[in-house]
Amino acid sequence: MSVRRLAEDQFQPAAFAFNDENAVWADKTIQKYPVGRQQSAVIPLLMRAQEQDGWVTRAAIEKIANMLDMAYIRVLEVATFYTQFQLGPVGTRAHIQVCGTTPCMLRGSEGLMSVCKSKIHHHPFERNAEGTLSWEEVECLGACVNAPMVMIGKDTYEDLTPERLSEIIDTFDAGNGASITPGPQIDRHFSSPEGGPTSLTSEDPKAKKSSAKKVETEAATAKVDAAPVPPSEAARPKSTDAETNAALKTPVTAPKAAAKNAKAVEEQPGVAAPVPATAKPSLEDKNRPAGIEKPATPDDLKLISGVGPKIEGTLHELGIFTFAQVAGWKKAEREWVDGYLNFKGRIDRDDWVKQAKALAKGGEAEYIKVFGKKPR
Ligand code: FES
Repeated sequence: MSVRRLAEDQFQPAAFAFNDENAVWADKTIQKYPVGRQQSAVIPLLMRAQEQDGWVTRAAIEKIANMLDMAYIRVLEVATFYTQFQLGPVGTRAHIQVCGTTPCMLRGSEGLMSVCKSKIHHHPFERNAEGTLSWEEVECLGACVNAPMVMIGKDTYEDLTPERLSEIIDTFDAGNGASITPGPQIDRHFSSPEGGPTSLTSEDPKAKKSSAKKVETEAATAKVDAAPVPPSEAARPKSTDAETNAALKTPVTAPKAAAKNAKAVEEQPGVAAPVPATAKPSLEDKNRPAGIEKPATPDDLKLISGVGPKIEGTLHELGIFTFAQVAGWKKAEREWVDGYLNFKGRIDRDDWVKQAKALAKGGEAEYIKVFGKKPR
């Protein structure tokens, strides 16, 4: 680790004070700790001071030491130990932390640093001419699976190429950093494989078998839990843990009795048989989005983040070939497709409809305008 020192005197302001909002927050934070243990708030207070002024000044260190009744040297030790704290002024719009540890290095972090050197400054921690940008090399930031990556503020930007980092830097420099979606910058969902899941999908025969078994077990358990409780006893107090555990064991040790009880429940008037939560929706369901004949030139649905070749194939089987179709999906239709793909809410999380609307309206150019990045 390099030696970390406070910035030169010429950069140090004469005083530091939390603004009104942060002062209230700091008081509340200090009160979270028992009397005599207020110094435990030193890291959150230093971080808030950095968020307020962009870096940790000597005056901030002294102010926080006074607030927590600590010696200046103790707060200085903390600030100089953790590399999250910037000890000198950094870019006012972005300070780019490029991970240079082995996985990122093997996947191209040197190319990312070259971009920083050419666009910002040849040396780390030096700001560009306007003072808006700076960069540094850091150790592993814990997103190695999507290497190479950088961190800007509290967000990480992963699966980077030099070209994509260059675009990100330009966007931050233009003051539009908030328009960029953090995380993977390619067709990857969190740390899933590129292009979508390749295992434990609904099409995976092994997953299907184990999922079907799970559904059967859950259904039997639910039925058995419900079966022995007559309506008149429904208001009983909750079972103890021991009772609950014993009940949960019942279907495993007595499958025949479980089936009998389940049948009895099904036959009770007004008692609905439990529907397995993971059941795939029927192709005949009224909420299935309308399909069309394959057009001569179908849209490249893989431009929608979250759609890989396999998912695109499934959508084609459903008659979904265009962005306009996806853009028009209502909630019930999205839920149907989500359930059919066993996506557990991913369609809404990735906002396929917004992506599809942009692509349908103006292709990649409109997508970049809306999302601040290229599709996929
Ligand atoms: S090596 Fe770069 S994030 Fe871990």
